[in-house]
Formats: sequence, structure tokens, C-alpha cells
Amino acid sequence: MRSAPEQSEAWNGLASLDWDGRTCPFLRKSIQSACTKLTNTPASLLNLRHATLNSFGDFSAPFVAVETNNFRRLLRTVEALSDLGPELAAERDFSESSRRMLSAVMEAAGAREGALFLFSDKPTMLTSVAAQGFAMLPEPAFIPLLPKHAHALTAARSPIVLNASTYSVFLSSNGNVAPELFKCLAPLKAAGKLAGVIALGRRPGDAPYEDAELNAMDLLCSYIGLAVQNHALSQTLAQRVTENLRLMASLHGFYDTALEAFATAIDVKHVNIHGHSLRVGRYAAAIGEAMGFEAGEVAALRSAGYLHDIGKVAVDRRLFGKPSALDPEEFREMADHTVVGHQIVSSVQFPWPKVHECVRWHHERCDGSGYPDGLDGKELAMPVRIMALADTFDAMTSVRPYRESLPLGSALSDLIKMTPQKYDAEAVQALLIQVRRDAVGSNRTPLLADRIAVNIAPADVDHLAASLQHKVSKGKAYLT
Ligand SMILES: [Fe+2]
Repeated sequence: MRSAPEQSEAWNGLASLDWDGRTCPFLRKSIQSACTKLTNTPASLLNLRHATLNSFGDFSAPFVAVETNNFRRLLRTVEALSDLGPELAAERDFSESSRRMLSAVMEAAGAREGALFLFSDKPTMLTSVAAQGFAMLPEPAFIPLLPKHAHALTAARSPIVLNASTYSVFLSSNGNVAPELFKCLAPLKAAGKLAGVIALGRRPGDAPYEDAELNAMDLLCSYIGLAVQNHALSQTLAQRVTENLRLMASLHGFYDTALEAFATAIDVKHVNIHGHSLRVGRYAAAIGEAMGFEAGEVAALRSAGYLHDIGKVAVDRRLFGKPSALDPEEFREMADHTVVGHQIVSSVQFPWPKVHECVRWHHERCDGSGYPDGLDGKELAMPVRIMALADTFDAMTSVRPYRESLPLGSALSDLIKMTPQKYDAEAVQALLIQVRRDAVGSNRTPLLADRIAVNIAPADVDHLAASLQHKVSKGKAYLT
């Protein structure tokens, strides 16, 4: 008999069968249990070395009296357990994992036919995911269950040997497979709930399933039950995530529609600003898209654009139609729409960041000359800088009481003159990208063509882009 340290070393060897090099308590417990059940020898008396699992020669005296077949079964079961660890941890298709789990059980139980079924309770049914050895088994095979079948399978504490009197207790004959094909059933359970069933057919020579085979199945199936349950949970989770994403998409659609209505309500104040907020939202989103923003950030820009002038609801509508410059008092009232708008939206919890900032600071400029807070470019987040550009671009290309709208080329040229002092150079380059797409006539929905004549050639847009690049690089030439 080996000393205690030697026994400890032996068990550590077995525990090292874990799939990632760490101790796996469940696997260790299963192996200890397997040794006890399959050899009728207490685990504490077993002295196994991992390195000698495939050899009987290293077993010590207490094993000599135990039947060789039992040891072979023990080794098969232990090997199956150790193989299942990495198998179940591997990221592979579940049908492949199912096939390997089924093979392990068939090997341990000495079966030549077997199938692994998953259990679903709506409808109550067993559906095969792997099968081996059967000459004629539909793929997938399914067995509808009555409540009494599901109850009997859930209540079973160990594998069941089927005979003429027990088929109807556990299985129905209403599926596409005859229950008589199966000789033995092992319910797969996790936390007391039925997750599936392993159904074995004939053994070589039609040998019956004895206690030793049933014990081996029992050990493996308690392990496989967890894997099957994990798969079912992950499927449910994936389904719920999909449903939530669909719900979120519909909510975003609802949000967009509601904010469009807000934008229209803001711009109804005066004919001179009709459509302004909707267009600023569209331009800002297009600029963000050309800058490589994520879909959520683009949606945030669109929404912020719809709402950026919400404070104008508090401005005297007479000011929007005044054909001359605003006097200082009128200008202050108009400029206050940024602060009033910020007060209106400050208590709103938007699903995106920076909406509040866009409402308050869309008249700020990179050189600090804007209002209401006179911030400079470093203090303005990119969405705010994009909003400022989109707002100005729409104002330039729209009719005002005191001037006509600027042609597209002139508006872009003027913007470039004011960049980077007033506007962000990257954002202006992104606007040029979108204008060029319209000029080329790509298949996407045009950004401008519904109200601005895109009377500019792609080469002219390229020239403007090169001018801007030359300007922001301070005349330095870069070799590419
Ligand atoms: Fe504004």
C-alpha cells in the first residue's frame, strides 16, 4: 500500500487531466466517483498515476483482486471523462460536440448504436442532434412526449433499461422513430431539469446492459447533462439578444420618427427655416459617416441635428423674417436660443452622449469667437464641431431675408477659407467626401440633390480638398 503523499500525488495526476491545465473539481470528483462505482473500491484506496493510465502494470496490490474487465471499464470511463473536458471547452459546432459526447458514452457502455436527443418543453419533444450505428434512423429523429413521459424521464435517477413494459412509460410512439429501437435510456439533467436523453440501441451480440454499463453511463451523463444544458442556455440567450436588438431597432425607428416630428415643429416657426433642423441632422450624420463613426454615433449626430435649434421655440418669430441685420438686443435674443435649448433638453436622458452639448455649443467656433460660452476648439467635442459645420453649411445654402442662397461651390470655398480657424478641418474634408459622392452620382440616396443644385464637378471637389489639405498642413508638401 502506498503512503499518503504517494496517494496525493496520484490524485493530482488524475486532476491534471483537466482541459486547460488547472484543477477541475467536477472532473476530479467524477473520476473519484468513477473509481469507486466501477471497481467497488473506495477512492481513497486507489493509487493511480496519470502517466500509467493506459497500463495495468503499475497498479499496486489492492487492485489485483479486482476483475480486469472492471478496470478496463474504469479506464475507458476515466479516459472518456478526461477527453470530454477539452471537447466541451472547445469552441466548435454543437453538433460535432454532441457526436463526440455520444461516442464517449457508447464506448464506455459498449454500445454499437446510440443517439443523443435534446429536450424542448414547448412543444414537449426529444429531437436528435447526433446518432451512430443505427441502420435506419431519420435525421433528425424526433419523439413527441406526453407530460407523463417528461415527468418519468425527469424523475429517473439513473439510466433505464427498456423492455416491453417500460417503453410507454418513457417514450411515445408518435414520432418518426420507433421506441423499440432503443434498449437503454440515460436522461441528461442539470439542476434537476431534463435537458436531453442519450438513447442506446443494441450491444455487440445483443448483450444486455448490466449494472457496470449503466454506472459508466450514469457518470458520463451527469457531465454531459451540464454541457447540453449550457448549450440550451446559450441558444436561449442568443435568441433573447436577437429579440432585444430587434426591439432596440424598432425603438430607434420610433425615436427617429418622434425627433423628426420635433424638428419639423421647431422649423415651422418661420418659412425661412423650414426643413433646416432635418437637413442639419442629415448633414451631420453624413459627415460622421464619412469620418468612420459607428452606427450609434451617426444616429446620435442625426438626433442632435434634429434638436440643435430647439431653443428657437422661445425666439420671437418676427426676427426670422427681418430683412436687415439684427440689432444688438435682437441678436442677444436670437443667440439665447442655444442656452434656452440646453435648458429644455438638459433633463432629457438621451440614449446617446453629446446631444446636450450639441444643442448648447453649435454656435461655438474653433478660435473661441462663438457663443454662448466662447469655448475654443480644444474644448469642443467632435460631434459639436460637426454640428457647427452642418448648421453653417445649411445656412449658407439656404435663402435668407437679406440674401440669396450661395451656390454649392461658393459655400464650400467660403467654408474652406474659414477652416481651421472656425471649423474643424477633418469634418470639412468629410463633407467634401459626401459632396463628391453626389457629384459623381453614386447609387446611394443623394445628400444634397433634393434642394441644392450639385453643379460642381468631382475634379473641382478634389481641388477644394487639396486646397484645404495644403492650408491645414501649412504649405508643407508630403510625399505619398
Ligand atoms: Fe442654431
